[in-house]
Amino acid sequence: MQSNHTERVLTGDRTTGKLHLGHYVGSLKNRIEMQRKYDTFILLADVQALTTHFEAPKEMGRHLHQIALDYLAAGIDPEKATIFVQSLVPEIAELTIFYSMFVTVNSLRHNPTVKSEAAERGYNQLYYGFLGYPVSQAADITFCKATLIPVGEDQVPHIEQTRKIVRRFNELYAPVLIEPKAVVGDVPRLVGLDGKNKMSKSMGNAITLDASALEVREKIQVAVTDPARIRKSDPGHPEVCPVFSYHQAFASGTADEIAAGCRSGAMGCVECKQRIVGRINELLEPMRERRVAYETNPRMVDEILTAGTKRAREIAKETMREVREAMGLNYRFDYDEVRG
Ligand code: TRP
Repeated sequence: MQSNHTERVLTGDRTTGKLHLGHYVGSLKNRIEMQRKYDTFILLADVQALTTHFEAPKEMGRHLHQIALDYLAAGIDPEKATIFVQSLVPEIAELTIFYSMFVTVNSLRHNPTVKSEAAERGYNQLYYGFLGYPVSQAADITFCKATLIPVGEDQVPHIEQTRKIVRRFNELYAPVLIEPKAVVGDVPRLVGLDGKNKMSKSMGNAITLDASALEVREKIQVAVTDPARIRKSDPGHPEVCPVFSYHQAFASGTADEIAAGCRSGAMGCVECKQRIVGRINELLEPMRERRVAYETNPRMVDEILTAGTKRAREIAKETMREVREAMGLNYRFDYDEVRG
């Protein structure tokens, strides 16, 4: 395990479905780079997924394996990164409870990401777990004293909330927790194929990382483009075209040339789309190969999750010991004997 003890990376995903290109540019790409330099933890957030999917807990197992495969296929190296399952680290739930004592409901209600997700889901009544998920996310981050959190832009308010929780805990009890920083990808928000919303599986406007070459082509073919451009000779407006934003995200070296061709009417949407299909498939091709290697060996994936979760748990136990001591909850009888 390569490590640099001054920084530790932690991030994760809710286990609600496959990962897509938006995840890749927003955070996965950064994680793949960061794992080379820093001790990296990646969490499969099955408990957080239940805050919105509590009616379908049985699906968590399947999603969890799918995302683990997405990580490994994308280039997360299990020798360098610790991939683990949130619900199997009960210390995260304990920390959540302790933190929730001093987090106000108001600060959660005003969290812009909680607000917009609640609106998207049409919640007029807020579930307790859903409203409190940023507190549990603070526990995800602090149990291993992570300092760098590669995430999409929408997660920044949660990291801010975590920093506040850390400061408050350290001030109330003793300085044992560390304030993390968000690290947002170059493309913090990738627009979906519909050109309206950000790319998301629930909107049906995403290209998943496991898409076949044909699927990529078909999806890009029907992607929305500049509505003002009807004939090829019409001058286009790349700044409003979702396909152009994919050029910027996945082929930045040639994006200027594409923009110029579009504006002058020299390059039509068909050619522009063909080029980005080629580029996205170039990115996904090595992922497809790695995916097959892991898919044909599911035991290997299980072993990676077991080893990763064990390591996370060891660290969590150590932090829990410090937290209880800081709070004065280290009672006289033998902690280790009870806790194992
Ligand atoms: N909320 C994150 C998302 O929806 C997932 C997540 C859970 C996470 N715990 C985390 C991200 C801790 C970073 C750190 O994408």
